[in-house]
Amino acid sequence: MKNNRTFTMIKPDALENGHAGAILAHIEKAGFKIVAMKLKKLTAEAAKKFYKIHEERPFFNDLINYITSGPIIAAILEKENAVSDFRALIGNTNPQEAEDGTIRKIYAKSIDANAIHGSDSDENALIESNFHFSNGEII
Ligand code: GTP
Ligand code: MG
Repeated sequence: MKNNRTFTMIKPDALENGHAGAILAHIEKAGFKIVAMKLKKLTAEAAKKFYKIHEERPFFNDLINYITSGPIIAAILEKENAVSDFRALIGNTNPQEAEDGTIRKIYAKSIDANAIHGSDSDENALIESNFHFSNGEII
């Protein structure tokens, strides 16, 4: 994914708390263009595949229960330096440690329910995008 696209998921707590629209506006104001988007509820099987990299972590079961607890919005975003700029926009994994003005600082309350996901490399952005979208669904 040539350094200009990243994958994001607006997580169940953000939708449950009515922050989806504000978060999408925040993302667009920061210069990201939405090139694919869908609302879906992950099955446990899909969630375990998506988060396979974390399967040995002690919080894995909590993570799967949480991410399948309600709908998510999956999206592919385009901007120069998309992966690193988007990680900066969402802030630290733990909202308490996230910088002021970041999405997690504003909209998340805890490390386990932290409002939003952002890919951590170009390689993972491509893998995660292909996990959620087929070619015909991407502009
Ligand atoms: P993502 O963008 O969601 O991948 O977050 P991240 O890259 O900032 O963090 P990481 O990939 O290390 O962790 C993935 C997700 O696991 C986090 O976003 C949290 O939702 C969850 N997580 C991380 N650490 C903990 C923890 O200590 N406890 C719990 N319950 N969940 C955690
Ligand atoms: Mg991560």
